[in-house]
Amino acid sequence: MSKITITTLESKKKNAEKFTCVTAYDASFAKLVAQSEIETLLVGDSLGNVIQGEQTTVPVTIEEISYHMSCVARGLRDQTNQPLLIADMPYMSYTTPEQTIENATYLMQSGAQMVKLEGGDWLLDSVYYLSERGLNVCGHLGLTPQTVDALGGFKVQGATDAQAEEIFNQAVALEEAGARLLVLECVPTTLAKRITETLLIPVIGIGAGPYTDSQVLVIYDMLGITTGKKPRFVKDFLTGNNSGVLGALQSFHQAVLTGEYPQKEHCFE
Ligand code: KIV
Repeated sequence: MSKITITTLESKKKNAEKFTCVTAYDASFAKLVAQSEIETLLVGDSLGNVIQGEQTTVPVTIEEISYHMSCVARGLRDQTNQPLLIADMPYMSYTTPEQTIENATYLMQSGAQMVKLEGGDWLLDSVYYLSERGLNVCGHLGLTPQTVDALGGFKVQGATDAQAEEIFNQAVALEEAGARLLVLECVPTTLAKRITETLLIPVIGIGAGPYTDSQVLVIYDMLGITTGKKPRFVKDFLTGNNSGVLGALQSFHQAVLTGEYPQKEHCFE
């Protein structure tokens, strides 16, 4: 596999080849992710939930993402396989183009190769500002956990025709503004399929059905250590796997490539 770049993922999309993504927050898990041949690694602000024990991702700071990104990047130094490293930009760290580029620069200098931002229309100027300057941006639409209070809770987004149209239009606008990847979280399968087929950039789904170009899971969830209510899209790949954590990561990767995951029970209509 060797070094994965954004152009590797673009080629995969062109050739209708799936790829996978998983979160990690430290050097040891990062090494296992690299060995599993999973192509992209996200230092997600989900670390607020799974590491810090918070109820939401809102308390996570830019310093904390930077710290975990540095740990992950150090873990990958001696690895043959190098997944593409994506850093989440935390809550309110990207409210204007100027603030966004300053904080994105900090994360890139901590080891990231791309930054991920949650939101649609209001973000377009910042996405354009970063991409014009050669900084890789990943969008994130659907259920955007940083604004869970405004959304009224952790629930499926785009369930009505009007909401679906809005998310679709935002996805197209993010691509036009220069985003090179898009995460779609908790949206109906039909909407994710339409967006994936329309966009040229690769689309990574989580609770977005089987038709996206890729799937992402929080590593703790896929290892069966979900705390609190287990989301519908989560599958435990560790229980019953005789090859430990590395085996679980490899099973997730294979299950996505072969289309065995996600199944109907993991998706929203
Ligand atoms: O923070 C995170 O882990 C994420 C993924 C769930 C997509 O944003």
